Amino acid sequence: MARQIGDKEDRSDRHTGLLKLVQILSFLVVFMAGMIMGLATSSQINQYFTSQARLFFNNNIAATKFPASNCTILKPCKKVDCFSMDTFLHPNNLTHGMTDEELFWRASLMPTKEEYPFDRLPKVAFMFLTRGPLPMLPLWERFFRGHEKYFSIYIHTPEDYVLNVSRDSPFYSRQIPSQHVEWGTVSLVDAEKRLLANALLDFSNERFVLLSESCIPVYNFPIVYKYLINSEYSFVESYDDPSRYGRGRYNRKMLPDIKLFQWRKGSQWFEIHRALAVHVVSDTKYYSVFKKYCRPACYPDEHYIPTYLNMFHGPLNANRTVTWVDWSLGGPHPATYMKVNVTESLIQSIRNNGTECSYNSEMSSICYLFARKFHPSTLESLLNLTSTVMGF
Ligand SMILES: *[C@@H]1O[C@H](CO)[C@@H](O)[C@H](O)[C@H]1NC(C)=O
Ligand SMILES: *[C@@H]1O[C@H](CO)[C@@H](O)[C@H](O)[C@H]1NC(C)=O
Ligand SMILES: *[C@@H]1O[C@H](CO)[C@@H](O)[C@H](O)[C@H]1NC(C)=O
Ligand SMILES: *[C@@H]1O[C@H](CO)[C@@H](O)[C@H](O)[C@H]1NC(C)=O
Ligand SMILES: *[C@@H]1O[C@H](CO)[C@@H](O)[C@H](O)[C@H]1NC(C)=O
Ligand SMILES: *[C@@H]1O[C@H](CO)[C@@H](O)[C@H](O)[C@H]1NC(C)=O
Ligand SMILES: *[C@@H]1O[C@H](CO)[C@@H](O)[C@H](O)[C@H]1NC(C)=O
Repeated sequence: MARQIGDKEDRSDRHTGLLKLVQILSFLVVFMAGMIMGLATSSQINQYFTSQARLFFNNNIAATKFPASNCTILKPCKKVDCFSMDTFLHPNNLTHGMTDEELFWRASLMPTKEEYPFDRLPKVAFMFLTRGPLPMLPLWERFFRGHEKYFSIYIHTPEDYVLNVSRDSPFYSRQIPSQHVEWGTVSLVDAEKRLLANALLDFSNERFVLLSESCIPVYNFPIVYKYLINSEYSFVESYDDPSRYGRGRYNRKMLPDIKLFQWRKGSQWFEIHRALAVHVVSDTKYYSVFKKYCRPACYPDEHYIPTYLNMFHGPLNANRTVTWVDWSLGGPHPATYMKVNVTESLIQSIRNNGTECSYNSEMSSICYLFARKFHPSTLESLLNLTSTVMGF
């Protein structure tokens, strides 16, 4: 540009004097003004399009950059299908930047159409709510081996914890975006909902089981899968405890939304059907009441889901848990099993102690599929018992 102006100057007749100079100067002023305006507008347009693009394509797939230079009509660049059914139905990368509010909204979407446009093999989502390490990892890996098509794993850890597992483990790259959890507070319920919501994004997940790092399976995968997938009920412990540890934790300020006769207690370690999982992540009203009025010595994780289901979905609940725990020692915490305690007869008695449980419309000798709490030191003994007692 500058050169063109210079050329004009060279070519101009120096003898025409002042008039010519004035003409050149006014041309320059107009030209510069035009250029500044042009630049300002184009940068605004760029900004506008960038922010629009961020708004609409705020996910990894769409944001993938292509080398624009080498693409021609004859030889087009490989395109990513942003609306691909596969990534929509089975997101295989659990990393995302959604807030809880956005995530719960997405997870609450439910298909109205009854048939699926793909072969849907129902899966069980195993959701691990952990403080970090997974000491029972080798036991679970053995449990899952060979059944890859039938389950998905989700792990909630402390916020910045990186779980170190090998690439060929089913636990590899299964951590969900996690947040800080304070035990005994509503943040524990938030973590449970976060696990449910992430797992709901996979449309093949049909049953959702919550586990901790101290949980172990006591039956093999095919039995667990069949038991859960064929159950007409969800397994959320939900009972009326008249003592101060049950009704005593109810707060009258929860009226009129929650009444004392609706109040329930139950173990945090639930197992629920997809339909109920959608209801749990969708609820804001009752969750907010718990957040406000259920504070220590009221523990939201022991009351929110049992009470909410009792109020609205009771008939779909078996009201019992499939995760065994030993309260026989008394006190506020259940027994933790150490290496010395783990014997064949212990595991046998958890699998079947002679009591039967109702399952659908029948009775079943299988009441518990999982058990807690097992200390990391029990791992080796448990691995020794898998083939002889647990059947895997
Ligand atoms: C684009 O073309 C250049 C030159 O032909 C080549 O060196 C480069 O590798 C190409 N890039 C891609 C991504 O194909
Ligand atoms: C998942 O996506 C994140 C963010 O785009 C990326 O950093 C990560 O490498 C991806 N993980 C896998 C296993 O593809
Ligand atoms: C992860 O585990 C492997 C094998 O146990 C070990 O070699 C490696 O150092 C670990 N990495 C980190 C970051 O802890
Ligand atoms: C569980 O309790 C609900 C009441 O909340 C009841 O409607 C339902 O029938 C019970 N489930 C079973 C299997 O008894
Ligand atoms: C584990 O074994 C020890 C030693 O025999 C015993 O004192 C303890 O009560 C046992 N724990 C449980 C939960 O049974
Ligand atoms: C078996 O377990 C159930 C549930 O934990 C318990 O109520 C029952 O007393 C146990 N029965 C025997 C014979 O130990
Ligand atoms: C596990 O089994 C092996 C081989 O049978 C045995 O050497 C080891 O002591 C057992 N470990 C435990 C903790 O039972």
